[in-house]
Amino acid sequence: MLTLKKKTAELLASAITEKFGDGLLTADEIFAMLEYPPNKEMGDLALPCFKLSKSLRRSPVDIAKALADTVQCEEFSEISAMGGYLNFRISPSAFSARVLSDVFSKGERYGASNEGEGKTVVLDYSSPNVAKPFHIGHLGTTVIGHSLKLLHEFVGYKCVGINYLGDWGTQFGKLIVAYKKWGDKEKIEKGGVDELVALYVRINNEIKAEEDASVAGLSPEEAARAKHSALADEARAEFSKLEHNDEENLELWRWFVSVSLEEYEKTYKQLGISFDSYKGESFYTDKMPAQVEKLRSMGLLEIDDGASIVNLEKWNMPVCLILKRDGSTLYPTRDIAAAVYRKEAYGFDKAIYVTSAQQSLHFAQWFKVVELMGYDWYDELVHVPYGTVSINGAKLATRTGNVVLLKDLFAEAIARVYEIAKEKNPDEDECRAIAEKVGVGAIVFYYLSNNRMRDINFMMEDALSFDGNTGPYAQYTYARTCSVLEKAGNPTLTADISSVSLGEPEFELAKCLSVFPERVGNALADYEPSIVTRYALDLCAAFNRFYHDCKIVNCDDEALKGARLALTAATKTVLGTALRLICIATPEKI
Ligand code: ARG
Repeated sequence: MLTLKKKTAELLASAITEKFGDGLLTADEIFAMLEYPPNKEMGDLALPCFKLSKSLRRSPVDIAKALADTVQCEEFSEISAMGGYLNFRISPSAFSARVLSDVFSKGERYGASNEGEGKTVVLDYSSPNVAKPFHIGHLGTTVIGHSLKLLHEFVGYKCVGINYLGDWGTQFGKLIVAYKKWGDKEKIEKGGVDELVALYVRINNEIKAEEDASVAGLSPEEAARAKHSALADEARAEFSKLEHNDEENLELWRWFVSVSLEEYEKTYKQLGISFDSYKGESFYTDKMPAQVEKLRSMGLLEIDDGASIVNLEKWNMPVCLILKRDGSTLYPTRDIAAAVYRKEAYGFDKAIYVTSAQQSLHFAQWFKVVELMGYDWYDELVHVPYGTVSINGAKLATRTGNVVLLKDLFAEAIARVYEIAKEKNPDEDECRAIAEKVGVGAIVFYYLSNNRMRDINFMMEDALSFDGNTGPYAQYTYARTCSVLEKAGNPTLTADISSVSLGEPEFELAKCLSVFPERVGNALADYEPSIVTRYALDLCAAFNRFYHDCKIVNCDDEALKGARLALTAATKTVLGTALRLICIATPEKI
């Protein structure tokens, strides 16, 4: 559609010059004025002539009429003036022929561009905190982040996917204490990250119990001062030892990180995701002092109750904490050091951070600090936030262990799909492979069908349903395109269908295929993968209507059959690309 719109704008620009003289409107300006009429009766594309009326000193009706007589284009079956509008009716065959030839010649690159050529984007996403549960709250950052990476790559950017592991911080002090007290090496080697989380949950509970006991019977003010836990003290001491390179603790820490990573990688593999860098928070420990020093020497640091802060009052934000009273660094300090490092290491043109909207203030604050520090690339930093996830209505809490793990959610979806697949397919291996792709795909698709800022209440039943706007439905439609082509004996296809007379369902399908490049552009501009998800659903709807209304393999008219098979093949290509861009697998059979 975009191509035709562009072509039309160019034709109109020269028609206006021919009729009314030079220098009135550029093709770009006309392009922006062209509309898709809400009512199909009026045509497929329209130019409202009201704005032209003033500069041309003619009535819009006259202008529309004059242009209708001048413009000629074989892709339109009718160009007519109606009121102050110039309406274009597309010729289904000529238009579909062009769309098909575009899809066939570009193949999996249809919809792509080279707008990002020579530019680098780094994307910071997923980034779970080691030894804390990898729960469904991480689904958003993981799949939005990866989809944005795929979309950027699709339009030519060089992309660096960074998993900024939360592999440093006081939680390791707690974990070390818990492990030394109650840990069992073998159990962890077998049970993996779950065992680490169990230890972490246990020590948090015990710290809380000690704190509660230490303030029993005290007034709230007294309690605030008296609250105490010996275990928490121990944890702080162990973390401090770790920070000072205590060999035993360092070894435990490395082990905890690798056990966790092994587990995360299983989930990433199910999603078909890999990262280019796993440089986590610990990597930046020795890179922070230089940035703190720069802040200090620029006079940006203030001391507030012993802590070092950057005052952001002028920008209506709370202070940005750089150093705690005891001199230890904080989350923003690390992010600033990491951004500087990444700019140097990758020379990015854009750095994207995908996290929950709860962190929006954090990003706004440190982005501002980077600007104040005089880094002229501050405006290349982009925060992409998303809403919260609850499951069947229940909220999530991390500290207490009352969470739904991502791997459990996937496992349940896979098990349910397996049960259904087994009924129809006796081949166990095949069923397992399909169940994995459909189960995981269902969850990702469900998640990515909403605008990212919307809060989501996850309903497994809805996600897995085969009828409805779901992943299984989209994958099923894809498999249907494959089976139609197979039934037809995978024939050689031609895009040259301009002399075949097409009906409404074929034309609607071709139009839907034609808007894919535009949707890719919109998804990128808004950092919104759900635009691609909804496009995939539109395409499925258009294809399924075509499939039900038109005979394809059994069509008697050879030319029409060829055109329909070509449309089916183009749907397969474009739907496949759309689904892969949102991290959904495309099995050929379901
Ligand atoms: N590890 C953090 C968390 O789970 C997310 C990190 C996001 N990235 C960043 N550069 N701050 O909350």
